[in-house]
Amino acid sequence: MRIYLIGYMGSGKSTLGRAFAQKQKLNFIDFDAYLEKREQQSIASIFNEKGEIYFRKQEAKYLKELLQGREDAVVSLGGGTPCYGDAMERIKAAKGTSVYINVPVTELSNRLWKERDHRPVLKHQDTPEKLEEFVRKHLFERSFYYNQADVILRTQGQTLEESLAA
Ligand code: S3P
Repeated sequence: MRIYLIGYMGSGKSTLGRAFAQKQKLNFIDFDAYLEKREQQSIASIFNEKGEIYFRKQEAKYLKELLQGREDAVVSLGGGTPCYGDAMERIKAAKGTSVYINVPVTELSNRLWKERDHRPVLKHQDTPEKLEEFVRKHLFERSFYYNQADVILRTQGQTLEESLAA
């Protein structure tokens, strides 16, 4: 079984993915960590020192590499990974099932307000209201890609396993 988890920042891709992989005794790959390891640099400092365009280019390159793998795994992708170039088409064409973790905007904004320092995409949103407004628009744009996933999960705090069984 190979699963690709997609969804907005803060939707729980890594947390749910890791827990699910552990229960199913599957390998878990966190794509952000994979990219950081290959680049030998944190995502925040890649954004700072080389800029978002460079980041997106490398993201596309490592995604291609990862999609060639055929072994069983649960992979959590970055929030923007499916939303640039032909990434979503590639994900759909690869072996495996894509799963969009759909979480309401208010829930995402609440979670992200507490963690915005680690998220270069959100760093200019300096009040909870601005952040929520930004997330609402950004998620609306990205939903075009996310909604192409094979499975859409509307989670309200349940585990991925419970969600997949529902
Ligand atoms: C991004 C999401 C992040 C990371 C980068 C850009 C985005 O991943 O790839 O900061 O554009 O949504 P997570 O969704 O795992 O936080």
